[in-house]
Amino acid sequence: MIPDADREALRTAARTALEGGWREGTTPDGVRYAYTRPAPRYPDQFFWDSCLHAVAWSRIDPSRARAELRSLVAAQRPDGLIGHTIFWNGRVRAMRAPIYNVLERGDRATWTIQPPLLGWAWEQVAARSSDDPGFAAEGLAPVAALHGWLERERAGPDGLVGILQPDESGMDASPAYDGPLGLRAHGRLGFMRVLWFNRRRGYRYREVVADGGFHAIDPLVNTALAMSWAALGRLGHPDGARRAAAITAAMVDRLHDPATGLLLPEGPDGRPLRVSTWASLAPLALDDLPAEIGRRLVDEHLLNPARYWLPYPVPSTAADEGAFRPGSLGRVLPRYWRGPTWLFATLPLLEGLLRAGRADAARELAARTARLVTRSGLREYYNPYTGEGLGAGPFATSAIAFDAVERVR
Ligand code: GLC
Repeated sequence: MIPDADREALRTAARTALEGGWREGTTPDGVRYAYTRPAPRYPDQFFWDSCLHAVAWSRIDPSRARAELRSLVAAQRPDGLIGHTIFWNGRVRAMRAPIYNVLERGDRATWTIQPPLLGWAWEQVAARSSDDPGFAAEGLAPVAALHGWLERERAGPDGLVGILQPDESGMDASPAYDGPLGLRAHGRLGFMRVLWFNRRRGYRYREVVADGGFHAIDPLVNTALAMSWAALGRLGHPDGARRAAAITAAMVDRLHDPATGLLLPEGPDGRPLRVSTWASLAPLALDDLPAEIGRRLVDEHLLNPARYWLPYPVPSTAADEGAFRPGSLGRVLPRYWRGPTWLFATLPLLEGLLRAGRADAARELAARTARLVTRSGLREYYNPYTGEGLGAGPFATSAIAFDAVERVR
């Protein structure tokens, strides 16, 4: 049971963080935008944050949810790409330009991606948009165009899409990619070499791969794509269900590791990368994940107190990994996602627990999440043992926890 006071505290925190981050305006060339910035230190529109903001907004003010998703679409390039970060407020700040994935300072968005959750978010928001009945159909063409770009630019014959930098996985310094990157890992000085390598190739994935650059098949990114295709199917896209099923099947075929039961990322040499992060549990969010694979993910990993079932779950990296650190790491360039709990993960894993018939555990996850926010507010991430809030705050993207908790009553 979640105490009413915790539920209310979460609703208030979500509303305050989302309202505090709201930005709207018109660019000099007349494009209107409206979105939530995650925190003052992140003033721009971030792709997957925005998808999660929109879902959280849909429980508070659906018109803002729709505006936020429409802004992502307003940033779509003619070829279909919607970048990882969109710079509505003008040019990339000069200080940051060297580490942003742009070709020129005037670029409105990065040339890199984040987990493609747009179709999924569109469906969630459409379900709460009875006051705007055209909204559901409006998403079909832009989301399909984004998926088309991913397929053309990033996918192999089995449809799984690749990433060319670890931050494209959403988990910037994921320890899963330490092996192939070494001193070039995110948050280390050598990461600049990865950035420059990719920039010189115009961020063209196939060129990066051909020239021996870092690349990987990430389970979280492909889960997002399968979720997005499935949602698009339910919104009316004739091919959505088939595409979603094909991606799930390809992930099971290519990423599932029978020894551990995890869906592991595949590294540049085609071999599995064996560090366990929540990205390997994310496929639990898929309707058509084979039940036995889901059962192992839940019993051996998610609900294992030595791995992910810590006092304030779900840690971004399994607690029994050598790389696991429960607190902040890195002062100049923070090294994210190496242990702390990020609330981005709560919703897909909670849905996965419900789907696996583990309603008690889903309720427990929601209750601990609500307690965490009551204790520490909406922060960027948290120590999974103590619940201490870390990183930026108030952090709007963590408002997604409100939606997750509302799903279990
Ligand atoms: C960090 C996170 C990334 C997020 C961004 C904005 O870079 O790793 O996932 O999108 O912050 O919140």
